[in-house]
Amino acid sequence: MVIIQIPVGFMQVFSYIIGCEETRDAIVIDPGADADLIAAKAKEKGLNIKYIFNTHHHFDHTEGNADLKKLTGAKIVLHSLENAQMKGASKADICLNDEKTFKVGNITFQIYFTPGHTSGGLCLYTDGNLFTGDTLFVGDSGRTDLPGGHRPTLGASIRKLMELPDDTIVWPGHDYGRTPSSTIGNEKRTNINAKEYGYYVKD
Ligand SMILES: [Fe+2]
Repeated sequence: MVIIQIPVGFMQVFSYIIGCEETRDAIVIDPGADADLIAAKAKEKGLNIKYIFNTHHHFDHTEGNADLKKLTGAKIVLHSLENAQMKGASKADICLNDEKTFKVGNITFQIYFTPGHTSGGLCLYTDGNLFTGDTLFVGDSGRTDLPGGHRPTLGASIRKLMELPDDTIVWPGHDYGRTPSSTIGNEKRTNINAKEYGYYVKD
């Protein structure tokens, strides 16, 4: 599996290309503002982008949907509650409504429904890697004061993620932490919201 973390746009957004080494099929999580850069990186690695997956509808994560779809022919994937907020060519080709698995090449992702930052937020897990969008950041978690946000709901979503093994790598949707990625175990010990959300573990 190939994982490429790419800073995009002005809001320290992280976009991800995750590719299958055998089939060269790839998924992009949250293209943000820079479709050209992402398409170029995929080409450089010999990866074919088949899906554009949005963790949620916010513009800083979805701005590049239409352009990247035009460049690659990839299908846009969103939760139906998030898709209701999307317009025109950025809208989903495939809507998800539950926590099923999603296959890209030989990679199988487990989809987690993680509302709280927005009403239909999703996270993706595969083989020790968790892509958390604006649900969980390194050292912090997503804001809950925007439409669809709800703090106790976000807490419940993050507690569900905290059931994954401690060495699971956390790949966030923004570069807001001390490091560009973290682990579930590290977030249990150090995340500023760990006590409030009930997943704090002492060092
Ligand atoms: Fe967001």
